[in-house]
Amino acid sequence: MPAQPVNRDRLLRRLTELAQIGRSESGGVTRPGFSPADLEARRYMVREAENSGLPTAVDAAGNLWLGPRPHPGTTTLVLGSHLDTVVDAGPLDGVYGVVSALEAVENLTSLNLLAHPVTAIAFANEEGALHPQPFWGSLAASGQMPTPTAAPTAYDGTLLRDALTQAGGNLDAIDQARLDPHQLLAYLELHIEQGPVLERERIPIGIVDAIVGRVQLEVELTGAAAHAGTTPMPGRSDALAAAAEIVLAVEDLPAADWCQVATIGRLEAAPNSPNTIAGLVHLTVDVRDADEARLHQAAGEAVRRIESIAQRRTVKASCTRAASSKPVLTDAALRRSIAAAAARRAVPTLPLTSGAGHDAQMMAAITPAAMIFVPSIGGVSHVPHEDTSPDDLVLGAQMLQDTALALTSPTGSLA
Ligand code: GLV
Ligand code: MN
Ligand code: MN
Repeated sequence: MPAQPVNRDRLLRRLTELAQIGRSESGGVTRPGFSPADLEARRYMVREAENSGLPTAVDAAGNLWLGPRPHPGTTTLVLGSHLDTVVDAGPLDGVYGVVSALEAVENLTSLNLLAHPVTAIAFANEEGALHPQPFWGSLAASGQMPTPTAAPTAYDGTLLRDALTQAGGNLDAIDQARLDPHQLLAYLELHIEQGPVLERERIPIGIVDAIVGRVQLEVELTGAAAHAGTTPMPGRSDALAAAAEIVLAVEDLPAADWCQVATIGRLEAAPNSPNTIAGLVHLTVDVRDADEARLHQAAGEAVRRIESIAQRRTVKASCTRAASSKPVLTDAALRRSIAAAAARRAVPTLPLTSGAGHDAQMMAAITPAAMIFVPSIGGVSHVPHEDTSPDDLVLGAQMLQDTALALTSPTGSLA
């Protein structure tokens, strides 16, 4: 019996329904990891999977398994991505990969003929939009979770320990989320491109060859809050003016050839009052490059620039490395499997490098990992109008399922 093809109506219905969870008046989706909206999206996926007769589970890191968990005596193909979003996100980043992974698991497990189990996972807190440890779930699953220096705390003051417990995880048992590489066949992730290349080239499927690395810094600038009218300009310690200069100095790093991209996307000033000089600023720096050595040199240069600007403006700067991820190459044999699956349906493909980070990057440390991309309309993402055509969404899901079937069928292999 051949596998059922991707169920177009079910796939698109689930994406439409999930896009309502965490939707704000602006039309964007705000569903940061471990927020109430994230928990609601997880419950939605559990209901959908259980209605299809699949087992579900949450591991200690809060990762949501939709299908069997890897277990001794078998090597499981894991398909997945994340359900959490950035603030005011679009409807597809991450969630498309999870919904398509569930779709493939539903269609393939009913075959009862597979040589390897196939399962779906929604990794917890990939974005780090509220709890500032991006890739939380995949770091734990791949055994790479850095030891926290303090109790992990969200930007709104919520303790990660409590948020994780609410999601069904357990901070004290986080090691139990670690996967045994011997129980894994491979990891495959389907995602929207989030950039302009596939649309521009009119190619429906991208095969990711590499994913850039990232360093995130958290910066605290301490100046002196004072009266905006009575404090003479000379001698001020204006933390926000220092931050303004720092934003431009960091933005200049790629132009000065330190790295591919550099961004300050989050900035909070206190007391944030029109007639008071800002005494305190917190901001984040996000630096990315495909070359690990360059990445770390760029992060070092960012710190030097920040410290020098702060010193000149008599502001105290403290920079801490909040998160970092290594650039990775995807697995060549898996890339060939994706290309072969596409060729069987005469679907054109293009090799692509991902400028966005993905859970696949973490999973690559413990198992062969690869990614399939579909075009993003207008090349945009992390904004409410992020979109992909329904035909491209269905085709991408079919490519994921075809590749998964080829890898797990008795005659399939990773060669
Ligand atoms: C993940 O969304 C990233 O910021 O690359
Ligand atoms: Mn994202
Ligand atoms: Mn994503």
